[in-house]
Amino acid sequence: MKILAIASQKGGVGKTTVAINLAYALAHRGHRILIVDTDPQGSVGLSLSRGARERTGFYDALAAGEDPSRLVLQSRLPELKLLPAGRTDSFLAAGGFGGVDDRAVADALAALAAAAGVDVVVVDTPAGMSGVTTSVLRAADSVLIPQQAEPLGVRSVPQVLQAIAALRRKGHPLAVAGIVMTMVQGDQKESVEAEQQLRAALPAGLMCSANVPREVAFLKASGAGVPLGLLSKRPPAAAAVFDQLAAELEPKLGLGSPTEADPHGVGELVD
Ligand SMILES: Nc1ncnc2c1ncn2[C@@H]1O[C@H](COP(=O)(O)OP(=O)(O)O)[C@@H](O)[C@H]1O
Ligand SMILES: [Mg+2]
Repeated sequence: MKILAIASQKGGVGKTTVAINLAYALAHRGHRILIVDTDPQGSVGLSLSRGARERTGFYDALAAGEDPSRLVLQSRLPELKLLPAGRTDSFLAAGGFGGVDDRAVADALAALAAAAGVDVVVVDTPAGMSGVTTSVLRAADSVLIPQQAEPLGVRSVPQVLQAIAALRRKGHPLAVAGIVMTMVQGDQKESVEAEQQLRAALPAGLMCSANVPREVAFLKASGAGVPLGLLSKRPPAAAAVFDQLAAELEPKLGLGSPTEADPHGVGELVD
């Protein structure tokens, strides 16, 4: 079992979109996946299960000092479970984000991983390399960094890598699963250049070969409350990017290739 954090310095770069669609793609390839939302804005629950906003979740358990495992929801895709962020009011009242307890976050993730019986726990995090995100990174085996393909966006990459290096120096064996370019616009010079510059500047193997294109389908999928692969009977081409990303990450997550091709149909993931 591996804990994979999805984290980046900036918000709005596609972390949640990557977390949901990657979790779905891995599950669709036959791996047992639990997606945990640690972003107080709670959009993972929203996108995967209507009504999840009202449900209790990660922060309720953290505030109560309880094991969050009993709050895990099953999606209709048998391999995919989720834990919404839940309500943050009691967590905030109990000291809030200033005093996030690393141990409590690590214990919660370990308990979840054990109870859910999954191969990978995908953890979506709030923007920035501080607070809960740092606690998640300390508990994680690896981190996937979504990076928006725009000139200003790529400037935050060194900051993220420095934060990861600092954690490693303190003895946390956090591996970088990869940097994945998001919202890539093949017809925009600036977007393509940002991607190429980053690829040229970073060691080979650090950047994922799969690029997530900017496509209105992602907005529609979030609006409809589903991963892109479930948007329609014939998912848009961009859905295949996440299958490619999942395949690329399998060896890094200690997962074998799927034995069964397309074990599930589409349109089965609901509350
Ligand atoms: N590849 C993409 N193409 C088009 N829109 C996207 C893409 N990725 C994310 N979005 C949209 O951009 C917004 C921010 O994405 P989100 O995944 O929530 O980012 P983050 O979790 O980093 O804040 C959302 O409205 C989402 O639907
Ligand atoms: Mg998010």
